[in-house]
Amino acid sequence: MPTPAPPTQQDNKRGLFISCEGGDGCGKTTQARLLGEWLGPALHKEVLLTREPGGTPLGQQIRQLVLHGDDMGPHAEALLYAADRAHHVHSLVKPALERDTIVITDRYFDSSIAYQSGGRELTATEVRNLSMWATENLVPDLTILFDIDPKVGASRFTDAPDRLERAGADFHQRTRETYLHNAAQEPDRWIVIDGHGTIEEVAQLTQQAVRVRLQEKFAHYAHALTTNTFTTPESTV
Ligand code: TYD
Repeated sequence: MPTPAPPTQQDNKRGLFISCEGGDGCGKTTQARLLGEWLGPALHKEVLLTREPGGTPLGQQIRQLVLHGDDMGPHAEALLYAADRAHHVHSLVKPALERDTIVITDRYFDSSIAYQSGGRELTATEVRNLSMWATENLVPDLTILFDIDPKVGASRFTDAPDRLERAGADFHQRTRETYLHNAAQEPDRWIVIDGHGTIEEVAQLTQQAVRVRLQEKFAHYAHALTTNTFTTPESTV
């Protein structure tokens, strides 16, 4: 009889891991929160809402460096995002998944592929391999892309733009195209949502799409999701 393969970190994972992605100003932070407020009660599970860069105290220091620090080359930038991700996954995300929590992260490695390879000049393969190494191959169960025209995203900025937001219109157009290209390559993992509507419209589209996808992909959630109806967001800030 063949020897069974040794268990991987992925085999120990029990919770549900969802990443929210999109260009700057696409509304994913609000939508990630609304998704958690709906999905946690619907599946009777705890929700951990987190983000990259900066989901941990060490990550907040890295966030400060990468978004507001001195200018840097593409390799240093990619390594700082990967360092934030490695620590985030090791100290927060994996332990939560092992406790059977729903983890919703506002950005994950697809941001690095879109921004550091689509936007900057690194290759997608090198950026992806770096993240796979940093996270010991932790891939989300579901990735939601909130797709918007970068001009619309920029018009929603309220604070002074950070280093990445200042990177220029062409850069943000390339990140959008990379996101859409990658989503089309892996349709089983990605859901693409039109992010141009109101907060409530986008939340409703997201709930409908996530419900269908979880029913298809994870049969054990099907009953909980069939009996639950759309929840209107109470607070939209
Ligand atoms: P985010 O916190 O979403 O910024 P905002 O609060 O302005 O929405 O993300 C910070 C910036 O970092 C954003 O411009 C995208 C960029 N980024 C990368 O370039 N690579 C990455 O791997 C990650 C996670 C973010």
